[in-house]
Amino acid sequence: MSTRDRPPVEVRVYVPAPGEASDVELMPAGDVTEGVVRVGGTIRRPHQPQSLAVAGYLDWLEDVGFDGSPRYLGRDADGRDVLTFLPGQCAGPLPEAWVQSEELLASVARLLRRLHTASAGFVPDTHPFPPRFIPAGAVSQDPAELVCHLDVTPQNVVVRDGLAAGLVDFDLAGPSTALKDAFNTAMHWAPLRDPADAWPGWEGTDPLRRLRIFADAYGWGEEERLALPAFGIEATALSYERMRHNAAVLGGGWARMWNDGVGGLILRRRGWLEANAERLVAALSG
Ligand SMILES: Nc1ncnc2c1ncn2[C@@H]1O[C@H](COP(=O)(O)OP(=O)(O)OP(=O)(O)O)[C@@H](O)[C@H]1O
Ligand SMILES: [Mg+2]
Repeated sequence: MSTRDRPPVEVRVYVPAPGEASDVELMPAGDVTEGVVRVGGTIRRPHQPQSLAVAGYLDWLEDVGFDGSPRYLGRDADGRDVLTFLPGQCAGPLPEAWVQSEELLASVARLLRRLHTASAGFVPDTHPFPPRFIPAGAVSQDPAELVCHLDVTPQNVVVRDGLAAGLVDFDLAGPSTALKDAFNTAMHWAPLRDPADAWPGWEGTDPLRRLRIFADAYGWGEEERLALPAFGIEATALSYERMRHNAAVLGGGWARMWNDGVGGLILRRRGWLEANAERLVAALSG
């Protein structure tokens, strides 16, 4: 569909073409959104408060020729958001051994860099993103510099031929900075966490080596490399407060994650970042 005959996101209706495949497959459950299914070549997701803002962002990415995100096709007869299905493989809840590939890691960083380049200039106007909670007394790490993904976990990257080919699940997208999105992605993919919280089978991986691979492939400059430990420590502090707030106010999957101990995981991550700040900078330098 060309830009010209694409109705505005708020009135876009998805009408399947006659004879279009309609087999239904339940997608692996994430933490928050329930009921994500694949129907033929589409993904159906429950409509959410941020859906139209996300749809506007996906339209922008389509228009600038970014090929690593789903297209927003409209809403189906049940009111669900309809997106294109990106063929490939995503990690499961506990990332499998194949997710450890360093080629994959570097390709995730390159894909994220391409997303940031493609996103430059996008300003949400008609449908703003819902504001993110900022704890009292804290300074936001999300100024309106760049709209980006902000949840590039292994479960939200589509892998083809061993390389990152697409990003899905733009639920947390919104105005922030490239550094925040890149830190967040490195945190998920290195991963930066207390070794006590290593995923099964990941005990032998070296997060500092992986962080360096990410930094080089994404293209962090010296400033970002030096800023990283303090920025990451601040990010974990904000994330702890935000998760606690979302669990209390939004409930659902947020409350489930909180009850499952995500708060402790974030605090241990923070402690690990503090204890390893110098090693992190050393790994990123030279
Ligand atoms: N457009 C898409 N193309 C291919 N696969 C997708 C697409 N959207 C989702 N998936 C698959 O479905 C899984 C769950 O979808 P999604 O990540 O959108 O929801 P979720 O993780 O349940 O939501 P949340 O992270 O908000 O709780 C993904 O991990 C991925 O495997
Ligand atoms: Mg997801």
